[in-house]
Amino acid sequence: MRTDHPSPAPDRTAEQDGLAAELVGRYGSPLYVYDLDRVTRAAADLRAALPEHARLYYSLKANPHPELVRALRLAGCSPEICSTGELAAALEAGFAGADCLYGGPGKTAGELREALAAGVRTFSVESPADLRRVGAEARALGVTARCLLRINGTGAGAGVGLRMTGGPSQFGHDITDGLPDIAELTVDGTELCGLHFFPLTNASDPQGLLAEAVASIRTAAALEAHWGVPLQLLDLGGGFACPYAAPGERPRYDGLREPLTAALNEHLPGWRGRLEPAFESGRYLVGDSGRLICTVTEVKESRGTTYGVLDSGINHLGGLSGVGRLPSLRAEPLRPAGTTGSPGTAAPPRRVALVGPLCTPADVISRAAETTPPRAGELLAVPNVGAYGATASLLGFLSRPAPAEITVRDGRVVSADRLVLGRRPLH
Ligand SMILES: Cc1ncc(COP(=O)(O)O)c(C=O)c1O
Repeated sequence: MRTDHPSPAPDRTAEQDGLAAELVGRYGSPLYVYDLDRVTRAAADLRAALPEHARLYYSLKANPHPELVRALRLAGCSPEICSTGELAAALEAGFAGADCLYGGPGKTAGELREALAAGVRTFSVESPADLRRVGAEARALGVTARCLLRINGTGAGAGVGLRMTGGPSQFGHDITDGLPDIAELTVDGTELCGLHFFPLTNASDPQGLLAEAVASIRTAAALEAHWGVPLQLLDLGGGFACPYAAPGERPRYDGLREPLTAALNEHLPGWRGRLEPAFESGRYLVGDSGRLICTVTEVKESRGTTYGVLDSGINHLGGLSGVGRLPSLRAEPLRPAGTTGSPGTAAPPRRVALVGPLCTPADVISRAAETTPPRAGELLAVPNVGAYGATASLLGFLSRPAPAEITVRDGRVVSADRLVLGRRPLH
């Protein structure tokens, strides 16, 4: 964990910090602020790295805020959803059910019924049993569901990012014991229209990412030949990286378009016009759009360590760190226009930990390190938290309110709201 107060990232302007401070004045602390212009830019950058005419799905699990989803709709992305809550967010953002790809393990009959009733017709299925469940609900409604079979392939063994498949996994259909028989995948109410791969996530090395995509394309070609059924939709997943809760820039994948297109040409000749390649991304598209702004409520000393107690903790950010998915978080002081010097530099470095307001020693934003101490009342910002922020956190723990979430475009507020966890009687 790093707790130093570094010089601000080059893209952090005093104007942005000024706006963030003003938003806290208006809506209170803590709050997330999402810059929709950055979302649009990320979508354009990723599109430019992918084969021409490839479909780009936005994975709502990264952040289902409807304004971010709307910005991605306007940027030409399609929604990749895994729950009826994500479906509701996609619909609120102006998508139709038919635009959605509905995937994920453990889909229940009730969820499938709701999705099909809302017009969802494309599903990624994790197994033949999942396919049969989709078929049963589609038949009951008198419709046909187009299904992609998610594959747990052997992969290219890229040692980058977090592996999602390639070993024992709840995700996807194993092909290590041979290719599945088409008879097992012929189910009334469904049409097997393609394949879905998602071998890894958060891979900043473009070569590793490319190797995985090429391995998936090869597997897809083998399956197409084995089944004798042409693929219509080939979702090659993603793995596109973004810094999380630390300063830094999104990687560029400028060199990907050409070799990806060449791999499609080589292994699936004649793919243009009959097969639509698709990719998915959550964090790359929204990660760098968001900052969490919070306040130091108290500074206290304990046995040689200075604690900066914040009004925001793992209830608002970093809840996933509890499952070992997240690296260090990092908060930096805001530098609104008009402030001079680097905040905190006047005080000599000390052992400082930044902690949240929850009654658990696990509520740590950054662990003790030699750095300049925070000051009570100071505003801090955690950068690059547009993905896996509020909804990936322990929102209900200790029953504090969720942080406000503000979207801005061109420096102006587009929306301001807050998630509310409530209790309703069941009848
Ligand atoms: C199937 C699938 N699609 C998309 C994503 C989004 O990943 P990321 O936010 O790293 O792009 C994940 C993340 O685990 C996933 O499992």
